[in-house]
Amino acid sequence: MAVTTVKSTRTPKAPAPPAPAFSPDDIRGDFPILQITSHGRRLAYLDNAATSQKPQAVIAAMTRFYNSQNANIHRGVYELSTQATAAYEIARDRVRQFINAADVREIVFVRGATEAINLVAASWGGTNVRSGDEIILSTLEHHSNIVPWQMLAQRVGAVLRVIPINDAGELCLEQYEKLLNPRTRLVAITHVSNALGTINPVRQMVRLAHAAGALALVDGAQSVPHLPIDVRAIDCDFFVFSGHKICGPTGIGVLYARQPILQAMPPYQGGGDMIETVTFDQTTYAPAPQKFEAGTPNISGALGLAAALDYITGIGLDRIGGYERQLLLYAQEKLTRIKGLKIVGTAADKAAVISFVLSYAHPHDVGTILDGQGVAIRTGHHCCQPVMDRYGIPATARASLAFYNTREDVDQLVLGLEKVKEVFH
Ligand code: ALA
Repeated sequence: MAVTTVKSTRTPKAPAPPAPAFSPDDIRGDFPILQITSHGRRLAYLDNAATSQKPQAVIAAMTRFYNSQNANIHRGVYELSTQATAAYEIARDRVRQFINAADVREIVFVRGATEAINLVAASWGGTNVRSGDEIILSTLEHHSNIVPWQMLAQRVGAVLRVIPINDAGELCLEQYEKLLNPRTRLVAITHVSNALGTINPVRQMVRLAHAAGALALVDGAQSVPHLPIDVRAIDCDFFVFSGHKICGPTGIGVLYARQPILQAMPPYQGGGDMIETVTFDQTTYAPAPQKFEAGTPNISGALGLAAALDYITGIGLDRIGGYERQLLLYAQEKLTRIKGLKIVGTAADKAAVISFVLSYAHPHDVGTILDGQGVAIRTGHHCCQPVMDRYGIPATARASLAFYNTREDVDQLVLGLEKVKEVFH
């Protein structure tokens, strides 16, 4: 039978108007701390990779909880407890939406990315990694994505393999492909390097891991504040992040794990709320995610995180990312003009992190002098000693930007570096 094509008589939909350009001036007032002074000067907070500042909406959500909603969850039949339970579970679903997980049962609340990785290493690793098995990490990893695997490897006799980086701070993908082999159980990689800002091609890397029969964990601690995340598109088996780096409170973070994997994992810690039945002979466990949330969780933290994700979504990560890229270019352009300054980490695909060294001053001295100028940056190895070793340096000074930073913050950093020059010349 012939198929007749019926032409639509409706007028084609006009394309959606572009989102208005982002200006930090529109939102800086949302952050009480950005109004304070430091050493009597305007605060230029440029340590966002360490922790982000909190908008009033997050502070208010947590205050509201303690003022009018506080009760323990999953335990009481009274109104306050059922309301607190509902709010906590709504927060879990908010996280699910934010990273586009398929099922709310794939979201475990933890203290932060570090605890999430420790949980996977102890629970999944303890069950699935055996003597002679291999785990692939990269030179760019934060210590929290090295040490838990090292502890596991030492316990079971597994071997860690490390993807090298080139001089720009990009992963050597050819070497990665060579490291993958039938003994590889897991590839655990950071999405964005906290020390250098490199954005890793995680989709491609996960695809290669799966093709080799391995699972993949992506550490999203430094990517969630800058890039829209879709765990289904990345196709990773585990994804972890911390709330405090994305405008949420400290002490709350997320482990995402695919349903069948998570359900099959043994508990990490024992205690209340993670059980089904307990006798002195035997305990049966609640299904995930409760199985991994022993004890009273950080309820106000979960609510604060949900408020942070609402806040970030309200602005839009595309707009945030676009603005931060412009600010990064501006900052890099200004900093490269400073004689004796070298940027460490010049990947083509980079988030808003600038690590640098000065030929005439130690990073710690740079940090101290900048502090006197109201500029807050981090100095040291940034919990990435293997990165420092790769460049043969003990430390860098690191300015890490957020969407509420302005050109004025960058200019204040540059002026502060003039001061460093005065002191050392
Ligand atoms: N991981 C955090 C940083 O990069 C603390 O500073």
